[in-house]
Amino acid sequence: MRDLLPPSVAVAVAGPADWTGELLPAERACLSDRAVESRRRDFTAGRVCARRAMAALGVPPAPVPAAADRSPVWPAGVVGAITHTRDYCAAVAARGAEVRSVGIDAERHKELNSGVRRLICLPEEEDRFARLPAGTSWPAVVFSAKETVYKVWHPIVGTWLDFHDALVELDPDAGTFTARITPARIDAAPVADPPTLVTGRFSVDDALVRTAAVLLPR
Ligand SMILES: CC(C)(COP(=O)(O)OP(=O)(O)OC[C@H]1O[C@@H](n2cnc3c(N)ncnc32)[C@H](O)[C@@H]1OP(=O)(O)O)[C@@H](O)C(=O)NCCC(=O)NCCS
Repeated sequence: MRDLLPPSVAVAVAGPADWTGELLPAERACLSDRAVESRRRDFTAGRVCARRAMAALGVPPAPVPAAADRSPVWPAGVVGAITHTRDYCAAVAARGAEVRSVGIDAERHKELNSGVRRLICLPEEEDRFARLPAGTSWPAVVFSAKETVYKVWHPIVGTWLDFHDALVELDPDAGTFTARITPARIDAAPVADPPTLVTGRFSVDDALVRTAAVLLPR
């Protein structure tokens, strides 16, 4: 994730011990007693990484509880994001004075079946896949980019974005993506100056697709 983000964003990637690390009481309270082991591990690694990223920024230690909608609640003046997928977890944090919002996402690098592709990708995106280099699951990259876009959008705007509410264009040579938010969602946003365009970076290896994006202050 480090190579996908500017130096103003602190990045922490989970090591083996982090999946069974310590939660702060306010964080533990957000985890249901009925949570299965894999959910406990993911949630724990995310919080351990979040606090490590904040420490790298010089922010005093503080819990990162979850809101009712499951979005992370960062301390005042901090923005951040968390992602986890099997065996991989990362969290990022930045000072709100330097970064308006940040999103990250990691997904397994795999082919998506046609039903999932229809849910995720717009026809314009499907048309472009044929012109991109072989060997990469481009629908998986678009999927991850859209989840990153949602993590950038939601902390600012607070509203839902469907997968068809962003049109993602990929530049495989530069490793960048651009997401244009549909005008209807922008017009309906309950805040002034919602993001209309989110630009980010992606990287792909055999196992994982990673995406990240930052929005700078206005
Ligand atoms: C929220 C969502 C993006 C999470 O992505 P995911 O691939 O399922 O899971 P990840 O591991 O990457 O991310 C999970 C983390 O996202 C964070 N998260 C959850 N809801 C969030 C929100 N509304 N805003 C920001 N971050 C959120 C949480 O920290 C969560 O981890 P935690 O529960 O352990 O705290 C996804 O579940 C979702 O609801 N997607 C539909 C909306 C969407 O992506 N639309 C596309 C718009 S173009």
